Amino acid sequence: MSITTVILAAGKGTRMRSKLPKVLHPVANKPMVQHVIDNALSLGATSTNLVYGHGADELKQQLAHNDVNWVLQAEQLGTGHAVAQAKDHINDNDTVLILYGDVPLTKKSTLERLLNALPKKGLAILTVDLDDPSGYGRIERQEGRIIGIVEEKDANDHQRTITEINSGIMAVNGQLLKEWLGRLSNNNAQGEYYLTDIVAMAHQDGVEITSAQPSDIMEVEGANNRVQLATLERAYQAWQAEELMINGASLADPARIDVRGKVTTGQDVQIDVNVVFEGTVTLGDDVVIGPNCVLKDCTIGDGVVIKANSIVEDAQVKANCTLGPFARLRPGAVMEQDSHVGNFVEMKKTVLGEGSKANHFTYLGDTQVGQKVNIGAGTITCNYDGVNKSQTIIGDNAFIGSNSSLVAPVEIGAMATVAAGSVITNKVEAEQLAVARGKQRNLNGWKRPVKK
Ligand code: UD1
Ligand code: CA
Repeated sequence: MSITTVILAAGKGTRMRSKLPKVLHPVANKPMVQHVIDNALSLGATSTNLVYGHGADELKQQLAHNDVNWVLQAEQLGTGHAVAQAKDHINDNDTVLILYGDVPLTKKSTLERLLNALPKKGLAILTVDLDDPSGYGRIERQEGRIIGIVEEKDANDHQRTITEINSGIMAVNGQLLKEWLGRLSNNNAQGEYYLTDIVAMAHQDGVEITSAQPSDIMEVEGANNRVQLATLERAYQAWQAEELMINGASLADPARIDVRGKVTTGQDVQIDVNVVFEGTVTLGDDVVIGPNCVLKDCTIGDGVVIKANSIVEDAQVKANCTLGPFARLRPGAVMEQDSHVGNFVEMKKTVLGEGSKANHFTYLGDTQVGQKVNIGAGTITCNYDGVNKSQTIIGDNAFIGSNSSLVAPVEIGAMATVAAGSVITNKVEAEQLAVARGKQRNLNGWKRPVKK
């Protein structure tokens, strides 16, 4: 079975009140339509047809990395008309899965259920029962069998009492779909070509029609405005939080965590409130993350403790390190095992060796720090001369006194000591003491200035 998807995304989304086409509005930092495309690919769809109308330039730019057929629907004449635009990309033997660019939360398992429900050469509809079905197309059944869908605006009083509604998502045989699309008319209350009319056609043609249901109602919800978008975001985040807990992380408050990407967690991880994850993050066992931390594209080893208000981006933290509060690891920072980074310490393209410490107010950029090094409070690597970046190398067991400036390129040997307040511009050999500061003079009888 070869799956072809048709994703409807031609609507303007006026109610978003936005320059951005609706389907590009993000859930968890990813455009809604990208969720839909990724979902289809994870099902093994072999081709993706994106029906677009408004905001073509923006769409093509933001979705450029996707392998999709761009199908223009110049005028939005209805959902049936929209699907019909993709006809040339649909083979007779395809299973066509119809999805919506503004319905991002459909789970793969639900779509699999729909595909499994699809009769050979038939039609399957994803339906839900709603307490308040108003606004939706209603599923008409006769002796339990689906015979049609009637849109709210075309429905009579009796039909409006039906609580089973059409989510819009369907799976259908390609050949039948194309045939039915050719027979659609716009003779209805909205003057649109309704995709939903193919259901009555299927019934008339004696084709078997089945249904499947999502496990959560949010899976079939769309976002027409920013209120609904925020509702989708919260639902999505609740699922991410749940998954983390199922996999071994304790969350101080599942409602106060945001996952905008993919987090893999070990066991016995503790995550405090207001932690934001972005990109791909891997947490080892027994990791503890304090409140208000941001972790992006990073790997955190077993037993690491990240204290409040720390930011880690594109970095690697190996087992049993501690960092923070208020630490910042920028791209290319690596903390080797058992190393410590304290408050107001920033590292960029820097390896902090095993057991080394930089506990207070420090900038380490383009630096290699050996093992068991102590970086004193206020140490700055001067890695930038205004034009070029240069390296600092610090050997094992070195001791850098507080408030030192290491002017790169420069090297501090193993076991070397830099006296506090030094400005180091030349290499310090192993085991040497470097004192590079003005000599202290104490003046007797000196008088403070007095006010004139
Ligand atoms: C549609 C269904 C309805 C279902 C509901 C679920 C039809 C006729 N009705 O109604 O049974 O309960 O979805 O939400 O299908 N679109 C295009 N081109 C068009 C028209 C629509 O791309 O010409 C896109 C829209 O951008 C939107 C989606 O298709 O993302 C649904 O269109 P919309 O007009 O909102 O359908 P509903 O009236 O809600
Ligand atoms: Ca409509």
